Amino acid sequence: MNLVAGTTGVEQTRALAGALSGLARAGDLVLLAGELGAGKTAFAQGFAAGLGVDEVVTSPTFTLVRTYPGGRLRMNHVDVYRLEHLQEVIDLGLAEMVDDPAVTLIEWGDAVVPALPADFLEVRLAYGDQAGDHRSLCLRTVGPAWAARERALGAVLAPWAPARGPAC
Ligand SMILES: Nc1ncnc2c1ncn2[C@@H]1O[C@H](COP(=O)(O)OP(=O)(O)OP(=O)(O)O)[C@@H](O)[C@H]1O
Ligand SMILES: [Mg+2]
Repeated sequence: MNLVAGTTGVEQTRALAGALSGLARAGDLVLLAGELGAGKTAFAQGFAAGLGVDEVVTSPTFTLVRTYPGGRLRMNHVDVYRLEHLQEVIDLGLAEMVDDPAVTLIEWGDAVVPALPADFLEVRLAYGDQAGDHRSLCLRTVGPAWAARERALGAVLAPWAPARGPAC
């Protein structure tokens, strides 16, 4: 299933992610895709805020994994940009992390799908064709966990319907 949304600035992307976090359950996996600066970390920040994390969420590019225990669900925030081999991702124990009673968000997660459980929500952020702060978000469910929440996902995304036709 594919859903599309559009935002006109970073605060909207954070707000959308915060609203989506309300659907999250223990064991969920969210892959954040999109080029450098597309807004993957901004999405994770909004998602954390929605869970009730009050720590500042920073990019885990160098630390690879950060865990935020303070919200409704524990949140693991991972960035695999610097990993060059799938084995490094396997060594990080991502599959075990997803088994945890936490929600796990992985920046560049689309690049390491073979090392992950085949049950996730992919959020692909892209620069909009209007220059500046517009972004499109394409959401795709893989496997049953998020597909079962399709209607709820649609309802959450409704306020951020894209200005133009589908971009996914
Ligand atoms: N609509 C928008 N949504 C998200 N970020 C936006 C938007 N408009 C502008 N921005 C800006 O784009 C940048 C997004 O940076 P962010 O670190 O979230 O990207 P990223 O995808 O995580 O990059 P990286 O690949 O380096 O990890 C921020 O400076 C943010 O303020
Ligand atoms: Mg980032």
